[in-house]
Amino acid sequence: MSHAPQQDRPDAGRPRRPDQPPVVLEPLGWSDIGALAELELLLFPGDSPWTAEMFRSELAAGHHYVVHRNASGAVDGYAGLSRGDEEAAVRTIGVRPDAQGTGVGRAMLEGLLEAAGERRVLLEVRTDNEPALALYRSCGFTRIGLRRNYYWPSGADALTMERPIQGRGQVR
Ligand SMILES: CC(C)(COP(=O)(O)OP(=O)(O)OC[C@H]1O[C@@H](n2cnc3c(N)ncnc32)[C@H](O)[C@@H]1OP(=O)(O)O)[C@@H](O)C(=O)NCCC(=O)NCCS
Repeated sequence: MSHAPQQDRPDAGRPRRPDQPPVVLEPLGWSDIGALAELELLLFPGDSPWTAEMFRSELAAGHHYVVHRNASGAVDGYAGLSRGDEEAAVRTIGVRPDAQGTGVGRAMLEGLLEAAGERRVLLEVRTDNEPALALYRSCGFTRIGLRRNYYWPSGADALTMERPIQGRGQVR
């Protein structure tokens, strides 16, 4: 899973405004894959952005992927989860910069956690990725390990985080 630090967000911590429309998620389709590869280049330029071929492999493997579309129908958010018998792993999550801070990332992560069911969920995140760390902590993830030089070519370190097994509906 690749990650990049983002700018401080002035409205971080504020509740979603009542006039904001609900975040609607859809399953990732094969025709969306080109858009995901473009977003990866934008969001993870120094951390081996995933290619269209990699996303095709993800879908072919049966992993659970969701996307969010903007008002024009273009994909501006995506997230994926792999599931084993007892564990699940967040594969990747990203939101186009102009759509960040509007609740899309949280909605997608909660969708993945719902799909994880009663499994332990693992992920890796760059140690300097404060927005992602804040999101993960708020969804019940805690640090369980440090992987040095995990990202390439940046050489950045990653934290491994875990969300223990819990019943549905206990995301926050
Ligand atoms: C991490 C990311 C997916 C969050 O998506 P988002 O749509 O901006 O997040 P949301 O608007 O749903 O906010 C959810 C939470 O994330 C955290 N957050 C988001 N942006 C933040 C920022 N700039 N600073 C601090 N915390 C932030 C907050 O905890 C926020 O909760 P709040 O709404 O109660 O304040 C997004 O920043 C992103 O795509 N980053 C680049 C790619 C990346 O780093 N992916 C993660 C790889 S591990």
